[in-house]
Amino acid sequence: MPTDTLPQPGKTPGKPAGELIRLERVTKRFGTNTVLDHLDFSVDAGKHVTLIGPSGSGKTTILRLLMTLLKPDEGTITVDGQQLFPASDKQVREIRKKIGMVFQQFNLFPNMTVLRNITEAPVTVLGMSRDEAGERARDLLDLVGLADKRDARPTQLSGGQQQRVAIARALAMRPQVLLLDEVTSALDPELVAGVLDVLRDIARSTDITMLCVTHEMGFARDISDQVLMFDSGRVIEAGSPEKIFNEPEQARTREFLSAVL
Ligand SMILES: Nc1ncnc2c1ncn2[C@@H]1O[C@H](COP(=O)(O)OP(=O)(O)OP(=O)(O)O)[C@@H](O)[C@H]1O
Ligand SMILES: [Mg+2]
Repeated sequence: MPTDTLPQPGKTPGKPAGELIRLERVTKRFGTNTVLDHLDFSVDAGKHVTLIGPSGSGKTTILRLLMTLLKPDEGTITVDGQQLFPASDKQVREIRKKIGMVFQQFNLFPNMTVLRNITEAPVTVLGMSRDEAGERARDLLDLVGLADKRDARPTQLSGGQQQRVAIARALAMRPQVLLLDEVTSALDPELVAGVLDVLRDIARSTDITMLCVTHEMGFARDISDQVLMFDSGRVIEAGSPEKIFNEPEQARTREFLSAVL
């Protein structure tokens, strides 16, 4: 498909590339457990950043903070220049519109067709007409390779197909940022490649900013502009995929990679 016919969810012509997400000294505790410890990092518009690190290191917590599902105890988070906390309900709604998230569990609406799953939020939240939302949904279903499934129900699809619908549903809101949290880890191994191919395609053909938690190191190597290695709530090492995967500086990174590669 030529790129000019793709939905290009993140396209904002003429807008200079710059910092889209910034976390400054972000601390998050659950009781006495300090999950994020004065965390700093930023993501530039259009970049693809991958978070890797051991289980429990705080990766999902970062995505939940960005989705405003959690509040930090200290520090500031800004998305597209707007501070997330404190923010009015209206500001939070505006920020949420900029961010799409795909979860490990697909969470599709089981009582709606595939097409309706994708058109529902654009119609009810963005006020898009049903016709326009339907047209965009068809383009997105082409993009994820499911044009023939638009009238199916989620239960009639494989896990990989459901996850591709979930990706299309997130893109239908034209988010500036796509947050992906281990989107293939609940899938049977033979379904993983198809979903990763779709994400590679999106990374290549749109200018959407991606912040991606994954254990798929080959995928991370392919799509990432930058890889952040987390441990105990801090970024312990950051760099290009070549640097992190070929010449990690930290012993902890080497140890982690040797366990997962
Ligand atoms: N709602 C919560 N209440 C209490 N503790 C929590 C809560 N959510 C997360 N935690 C704790 O915070 C820490 C980080 O969790 P998080 O889910 O961010 O880790 P993760 O890096 O995504 O791990 P995984 O790779 O296993 O998904 C863990 O110790 C977890 O037990
Ligand atoms: Mg997690």
